[in-house]
Amino acid sequence: MEQRIADSLKILTEADKEACETVRVSENEPLSGKKRLFIESYGCQMNFSDSEIVASVMRDAGFVTTSDANNADLIFLNTCSIRDNAEQKVRNRLKQLNFIKKNRPGTLIGVLGCMAERLKTKFLEEEKMVDIVTGPDAYRDLPRLVEEAETGQKGVNVFLSREETYADISPIRLNSNGVSAFISIMRGCDNMCSFCVVPFTRGRERSRDAYSIVKEAEDLFRDGYREVTLLGQNVDSYKWKSEGNVVGETSGQMLVNFANLLEMVAQISPELRVRFSTSHPKDITDEVLYTIKKYDNICNHIHLPAQSGNTRVLEIMNRTYTREWYIDRIDAIRRILGDDCGVSHDMIAGFCTETEEEHRDSISLMEYARFDFGYMFTYSERPGTLAAKKFSDDIPEDIKKRRLAEIIEVQRRLSLERNQRLLGTVQRVLIEGPSKKSDEDLSGRSDQNKMVVFPRENYEKGQYVNVLITDCNAATLLGRVLQPELVLG
Ligand code: SAH
Ligand code: SF4
Ligand code: F3S
Repeated sequence: MEQRIADSLKILTEADKEACETVRVSENEPLSGKKRLFIESYGCQMNFSDSEIVASVMRDAGFVTTSDANNADLIFLNTCSIRDNAEQKVRNRLKQLNFIKKNRPGTLIGVLGCMAERLKTKFLEEEKMVDIVTGPDAYRDLPRLVEEAETGQKGVNVFLSREETYADISPIRLNSNGVSAFISIMRGCDNMCSFCVVPFTRGRERSRDAYSIVKEAEDLFRDGYREVTLLGQNVDSYKWKSEGNVVGETSGQMLVNFANLLEMVAQISPELRVRFSTSHPKDITDEVLYTIKKYDNICNHIHLPAQSGNTRVLEIMNRTYTREWYIDRIDAIRRILGDDCGVSHDMIAGFCTETEEEHRDSISLMEYARFDFGYMFTYSERPGTLAAKKFSDDIPEDIKKRRLAEIIEVQRRLSLERNQRLLGTVQRVLIEGPSKKSDEDLSGRSDQNKMVVFPRENYEKGQYVNVLITDCNAATLLGRVLQPELVLG
């Protein structure tokens, strides 16, 4: 049934990965007296993954999803608070939705996710058209909150849990290409980076039952999926302990760390690719790197946000590592996994008190690490965070923007150089579907997470192919599929 739901993914702007993506769900199930739900998601992959849980909870409460907000009985915006512009997008969207509500007065509007959690009941004062406010740990309560809102009361639940992982809920795949899917392995974050709102919006870190993760991955593989991405704000601190005796275990409780979990998922099938995000530089271990090396189907790509290349700035960001520590982790990746391992990063330009010299340290770290790609942002002060309380947001906007432009330019050059290295090599690609630009071409990703585009011929999505790389730009590798015998020969 899940697979019958066809979906589409719309990218609103390219500049800001955390705040821009919008999923619209379309629906081809018969209505038969059910009500229609429209969900739109903003922010990170975890939010998209949460929308799939919400869709599942609401289906059980008698809702079917629709791709058209205009004919929905219920509209959910799953929101992001990571930077101010992420919140502004939601506010603008609410203004548009208000028109819909005027045309169809019975329509209910719910705000879910991080912005709901951050603003709580204040949201209802600020945005009068909102009927329901629900934080990331309260999605099981949505049917009750909707019922309450149907009687004219506002429905609010922003309780943050120490246990909730939604482990038993089978997500409805919303923006699915039928090939790759996200699996949340943990929730929350205990790190308190001083710039970051996530610990306040998502609560304490907790890890999900390892067996429920493996089962979800097995089910996906059986349904034809060929890639899973394990998601968490800091996957390296994944830690799960079984309750009581586990069948086959002699020593009572079983402890599973992230390296163990990777291995458990990788063993499902060599044909199932395993990716993961996000790794924290303070926690990524050599054990994880050796596990990646041991399994061909664990992809050679690590997203390792740096945030800054300067030790003083890292310290006031409360990242709890130094420039040297970060460099040591890059060296470990290169030593254990080799130069071909894809490494990407996040970087913040213009954090409080950052000097020109410290900004240049970020650039020199990028040069050292030779990142394959990166997500780069200007610092945006978030109310309630440690940085907002302790430091003044003292770097003028034009300087932040200029530093960001410099960082982006360096990354563009590094991305191109890293892609050029692959000219003439053969890359194994999992086909995800038609390329963005032409139906005559297919696209998929290489082991290192690089987008590869090649002529369609008779190949189909979900297949693995060996592609000879013949051309590239900073964002994409171009090539053609080699016949299997040419590769073997
Ligand atoms: N858990 C991940 C990051 C999650 S947020 C990690 O620890 O790396 C994604 C990215 O948004 C962060 O890596 C950071 O680069 C950026 N970000 C977070 N808060 C920000 C802020 N206040 N201003 C600008 N960028 C921010
Ligand atoms: Fe935010 Fe830091 Fe946690 Fe990442 S590790 S979510 S940046 S507090
Ligand atoms: Fe945004 Fe919340 Fe993710 S703030 S980046 S949606 S965890």
